[in-house]
Amino acid sequence: MSVPDRGMWSSRLGFVLAAAGSAVGLGNIWGFPTQVGRGGGAAFVVVYLLCVFLVCAPILIAELAIGRRGKKDPAGSFDAIKPGTSWRFVGLLGILAGVGILSFYSVIAGWTIAYIYFTVTGAVAGSPDAIGQFFGDFVANPVLVIGLTFVVLAVTAGIILGGVRGGIERMTKILMPGLLLLLVALMLRALTLPGAETGLAYYLRPDASKLYDIQVINAALGQAFFSLSLGMGAMITYGSYLGPRESVVRAAAWVVVLDTAVALMAGFIIFPAGFTIPGFDPSTSGPGLIFTVLPRLFSTMPGGELFGGAFFVMLTMAAITSTISLLEVPTSYLIDSRGWTRKRAVLTLAGLTFVLSIPSALGNGAVPFFSSLPGVGMDFLSLMAVIWNNFALPVGGFFIALFVAWAWKPANAIAELQTGGTFPGAAFWAFLIRWVCPVAIGIIIIFTVRDLLR
Ligand code: PHE
Repeated sequence: MSVPDRGMWSSRLGFVLAAAGSAVGLGNIWGFPTQVGRGGGAAFVVVYLLCVFLVCAPILIAELAIGRRGKKDPAGSFDAIKPGTSWRFVGLLGILAGVGILSFYSVIAGWTIAYIYFTVTGAVAGSPDAIGQFFGDFVANPVLVIGLTFVVLAVTAGIILGGVRGGIERMTKILMPGLLLLLVALMLRALTLPGAETGLAYYLRPDASKLYDIQVINAALGQAFFSLSLGMGAMITYGSYLGPRESVVRAAAWVVVLDTAVALMAGFIIFPAGFTIPGFDPSTSGPGLIFTVLPRLFSTMPGGELFGGAFFVMLTMAAITSTISLLEVPTSYLIDSRGWTRKRAVLTLAGLTFVLSIPSALGNGAVPFFSSLPGVGMDFLSLMAVIWNNFALPVGGFFIALFVAWAWKPANAIAELQTGGTFPGAAFWAFLIRWVCPVAIGIIIIFTVRDLLR
């Protein structure tokens, strides 16, 4: 059988930007600050960093190794390494998670597009109550929200129709540097606001009692997982487009550093800026924090329309580089394992995801049934987020660690990782992937299930 041309990154920089683009998204920019707020500030940051470096970075390396060895979509890659085993179901779970996550993620990404316009034109202004009311009315507008979700999916599909090099890599090469520049500019603006010290103290001075709080640890590990795009094979897919001569471990280190830097920078924007608003409460939930608190801040600042417009442009860019990777995972499956053409795969999946996204789009006030599901006590979008983020991703990550640790064997993975580059600390990585990752993730899963059953 001839091997079809699957596409490949043109350079390590291209790969690093695409993988970092996948990792950096709504999870970093509104998810991370929100979790910091819920977790009581700096203590969450400390625990989060431990989770990133001890649990998630090793899994990222594992996913990239599986992808580069298997050279296929997630299901196909497991099958290539251990043919005829049930490990391919771990890949299939990830492929489902890609569609599931994309279906609600694209709704929120649609909101961020609208807020570029609302902020630049000064449409969101006035008292905190008026801004909250504006947000509530906007997300309950079915035509607008569904239309914007469609735009997000159409743009995403359009980009990945161009393939690995011409589509994904070309876009992220433009988007990622732009995003980093904007973040630095916004951070400098926030840090020089009068009164920025209050937010900085909150963000940087840990409350030691929270360091041992299992809820905080649990939330930090889950957030690290989602933020680094782990557990669903996005990094297996992107790793499968890596050439044999690239240093995977160095590329992985770059992804971890960039993702963590963006999350930390988002905190350096939101907390110093947020605490200059009288009565600011950092425990405000995700959509609330970004879409209701920040526009008020922008509207009371000199040059606020530009500052705010730039912020939502940045958030949209970050979201699109993540939706690209979410759609690329099931697309690669249909191409590699099912023999579809890229065009047919992309259009079918985008259409399917659009249909699936409708209940999430209508669940924020437009349709009462989806806004508060009977017997569930939450809206459809939140339910999707719980199912996929809190459950499917950790389960996937748990099995990915088990696969490398006990089926493929760390020595084989290390050999794969050492073609094309050195792997300093390989023995330590093997220890983490065998013991630390499965145990830590096992604990997340147990707590997630316990929470769901309560
Ligand atoms: N990491 C992305 C974010 O932080 C979300 C994502 C999860 C993307 C899983 C791909 C796969 O927004």
